[in-house]
Amino acid sequence: MLITIKQPRSEKEFEDYYELRWRILRDPWQQPKGSEKDELENESFHVMACDENNNVAGVGRLHFNNETEAQIRYMAVSPEHIEQGIGTSMLEALEEKSRLEHCKTIVLDARKNAVVFYQKKGYELLGKSHLLFGSIQHYRMLKFIL
Ligand SMILES: CC(C)(COP(=O)(O)OP(=O)(O)OC[C@H]1O[C@@H](n2cnc3c(N)ncnc32)[C@H](O)[C@@H]1OP(=O)(O)O)[C@@H](O)C(=O)NCCC(=O)NCCS
Repeated sequence: MLITIKQPRSEKEFEDYYELRWRILRDPWQQPKGSEKDELENESFHVMACDENNNVAGVGRLHFNNETEAQIRYMAVSPEHIEQGIGTSMLEALEEKSRLEHCKTIVLDARKNAVVFYQKKGYELLGKSHLLFGSIQHYRMLKFIL
């Protein structure tokens, strides 16, 4: 299957983008539509992975905490597409954007199940961060980018 990594641009693309984010990261915990967004969406850099039919297979977001530090949030690959390199491709696009913006570090809070994925991509585990919905432990991770 041919997967393309792109930025959502049209209203429909953003609708599909947020739909997947909600479906993977919010719906399983009975969180309502709208809970998948925060106040930084308009100033963030978004990527989505689409198949030949424009179905969304993965999403991810980058925002900037300050001039030298970027943060990744809301990475999600649909269950039928995991372990096929899509997370890696989206991560590379977000890291490339960070480099273009002259950032030196990328931080993120990974769910426990995603820690190994990020470690494989060069992120260092710093320790526990927040607990989401009272049950999902997150771990702060950091990568220095060149
Ligand atoms: C975590 C996630 C984004 C990874 O995306 P993916 O497309 O499956 O990752 P890739 O196929 O690019 O995997 C790259 C490498 O990481 C490994 N990997 C991916 N997910 C993993 C996991 N959950 N546990 C252990 N290893 C994992 C792959 O096996 C692969 O290893 P290899 O290079 O040795 O073959 C995806 O599994 C996901 O969306 N999970 C559910 C939602 C979630 O937890 N999001 C993160 C929020 S912080």
